[in-house]
Amino acid sequence: MDYKVKDIELADQGELLIEWASAHMPVLSQIRSRFEEERPLEGLRIGACLHATKETAVLVRTLETGGAQVVLCGSNPLSTQDEVVSALARTKTPVYAWRGQTTDEYYWCINKVIDHKPIVTMDDGADLVGTIHSRRTEAIEDVKGGSEETTTGVIRLRAMEADGALRYPIIAVNDAYTKYMFDNRYGTGQSTIDGILRATAVMLAGKTFVVCGYGWCARGVAIRARGMGANVVVTEVNPLRALEAIMDGFRVMPLMDAAPLGDIFVTSTGDINVIDRKHMKLMKSGAILANAGHFNVEINIPALDEMSASKRRMRRSLDEYQLKDGRKLYLLAEGRLVNLAAAEGHPSEVMDMSFGDQALVAEYLWKSEKLEAKVYEVPEEIDATVASLKLKGMGIEIDELTDEQRRYLTSWKEGTI
Ligand SMILES: NC(=O)c1ccc[n+]([C@@H]2O[C@H](COP(=O)([O-])OP(=O)(O)OC[C@H]3O[C@@H](n4cnc5c(N)ncnc54)[C@H](O)[C@@H]3O)[C@@H](O)[C@H]2O)c1
Repeated sequence: MDYKVKDIELADQGELLIEWASAHMPVLSQIRSRFEEERPLEGLRIGACLHATKETAVLVRTLETGGAQVVLCGSNPLSTQDEVVSALARTKTPVYAWRGQTTDEYYWCINKVIDHKPIVTMDDGADLVGTIHSRRTEAIEDVKGGSEETTTGVIRLRAMEADGALRYPIIAVNDAYTKYMFDNRYGTGQSTIDGILRATAVMLAGKTFVVCGYGWCARGVAIRARGMGANVVVTEVNPLRALEAIMDGFRVMPLMDAAPLGDIFVTSTGDINVIDRKHMKLMKSGAILANAGHFNVEINIPALDEMSASKRRMRRSLDEYQLKDGRKLYLLAEGRLVNLAAAEGHPSEVMDMSFGDQALVAEYLWKSEKLEAKVYEVPEEIDATVASLKLKGMGIEIDELTDEQRRYLTSWKEGTI
């Protein structure tokens, strides 16, 4: 039995979820059709540490159709969809994932993936690469390269490269246009609101909604919260992004000023202790706190625990902290990324592009000559292919440059007429 999931009996429901996701993922469908004919991944073993969602299952099956053997574990203790991994296990994908893991269980699953001797690693947050480079270095000799799905993972991997610690090449899938401009912005935007609503069912219209950060993810959250009628305040540390938020029509101020105003706080920065004790001291009773960044460090939860006299679970993904001073604060999804832990993660349509990149990057790594141990950008052709496949899947055609326009755009001779 090469799997560990919560309940294999959930597999029928999981199959339906995968079928539903697949119907909204035309890029992967088109790649799968080609993979079926060409079998370009024959002989490749892929170790994947990704949020184990219905969309990830569609990616896994696409890679398997291309001839790869894939072994999967989750990339967060709270983001696995138990039905989906049961369906994968039943169709003989080795999978080690369930929702609600302890830290030890989480790393046990990562180690099971490494036991399968991956040739290509696929990470979301760099915990698989991190484990291979620290505690399982014997696995490095089998690995040809890897890919990284998220901003925080890319930051960690670039830090490894700068330290001279990175021992194999990584392609930063996060940094493809077809990934961050859509997944981080529209995906996180919609699914974070989805997570907050599933956890709380509160009305957003009329609420003061504080968004910490104005990067790709946070701006998506800010735009969608405004669309729901919330009064959105943005906090930033980067002057350019703060300016962009102002010009986009948001109020911008330090979090110390926003803390007493906010009804709902969402952080998505990739940074630590963004919402800290000093901010929580100023918040109104009833304020709701959520994180949409990769790790559960953006809200200082140990400080919140210390400030509290008691804590109770009100409903799934909603914990009430009764503070010693009488106020109540509400933390969603234990401070883990709210869109995956309290909802289902990004919509399939957007994961279609991110995972289209992942599938083509796996093929690229498998076919490429040996690359140096560095962090690489996604090749431009892959980005362009994914964008074209997506448009095709949506039934949208666009114009083409004429020969005259192509010449004009590459010449310096014509100016003011
Ligand atoms: N929830 C999801 O599904 C999901 C999806 C993609 C990425 N992510 C994660 O979300 C996080 C943000 O990713 P991104 O692509 O938006 O990154 P980004 O680099 O585009 O943006 C991060 C922003 O946060 C700002 N920031 C940093 N520290 C801050 C602080 N103390 N206060 C206010 N702002 C601060 C930075 O100046 C920057 O503008 C990362 O951890 C990433 O891995 C989550």
